Amino acid sequence: MGPLLMLGAGRMGGALISGWRLAGLMKPQDLMIRDPQPGDEAQAAIAAGALHDPDAAAMRRAGIVLLAVKPQLWREAAAQVSEALAPDAVIISIAAGVAADDISAAFGGRSVARIMPTTAAAIGQGTASLYAADSHAADIARRLFGAVGAVVELEDESLMHAATATSGSAPAYLYAFVEALEGAGAAAGLSPEAARTLARATISGAAALLAESGAEPAELRRQVTSPGGTTQAALEVLMGPDGLAPLLERAVAAAAERSRVLGG
Ligand SMILES: NC(=O)c1ccc[n+]([C@@H]2O[C@H](COP(=O)([O-])OP(=O)(O)OC[C@H]3O[C@@H](n4cnc5c(N)ncnc54)[C@H](OP(=O)(O)O)[C@@H]3O)[C@@H](O)[C@H]2O)c1
Repeated sequence: MGPLLMLGAGRMGGALISGWRLAGLMKPQDLMIRDPQPGDEAQAAIAAGALHDPDAAAMRRAGIVLLAVKPQLWREAAAQVSEALAPDAVIISIAAGVAADDISAAFGGRSVARIMPTTAAAIGQGTASLYAADSHAADIARRLFGAVGAVVELEDESLMHAATATSGSAPAYLYAFVEALEGAGAAAGLSPEAARTLARATISGAAALLAESGAEPAELRRQVTSPGGTTQAALEVLMGPDGLAPLLERAVAAAAERSRVLGG
């Protein structure tokens, strides 16, 4: 298969380097990194033997090319390397919104798989939405991202916008929720330290229980909600007519729309 060439190794590229290292999928020697300012993880990989800024001859050895620059910069990143690549190199793109056909055209017609990952790939708990019209590219993407978390395959590329809004962007929704819960706890009279520890530990524990029990979230919610109790009082606000469901519907719609705009 040959080494993997990373175009862009910032936050998401770095998370993948960590996850693949933990999963034993990739040694630094299997990596080539092209990035003017690699992030911490990429720098550690370079120090451990990954090739930084490979020349054209080295890039020709790459079997897989991971496109991991900001969506606004993807054309530039593709144009800089396309001619040097082997004809059968497979392109895996994590650039939000950018269509597979556009990527394939910019990479001289090479096979493309699109992935929308999450940064928890760094600890083997990522989520990846996958779309690929080409079965060989899909196989490679499934292998790379299955090693660092769950993979959900989409049958229609247009669903990538919804998957980006529901998954790729969603870790930030939870972090924003925790920030707001900490603030609300402090507003209710807790010290900032107590509010911080209570909110973070409670939400992390509840998320772990959801993952490990396999139970439906609605069932877990019912288990901790006594009729007429404190939780019910809060849920009447959170699940009310202007509560979480319509709010998240609007948030997801806004993210999906942004994904369409970024794709151009
Ligand atoms: N972060 C996430 O949670 C997340 C989740 C899902 C998908 N994604 C996708 O992942 C991609 C990267 O996001 P990110 O957050 O990792 O961005 P990032 O931290 O900015 O990393 C991108 C890296 O690419 C470098 N770069 C810029 N132009 C380049 C070029 N022509 N060739 C090679 N490298 C170049 C950047 O260097 P400079 O800093 O010098 O510009 C930067 O180090 C985006 O397309 C995004 O849609 C991100």
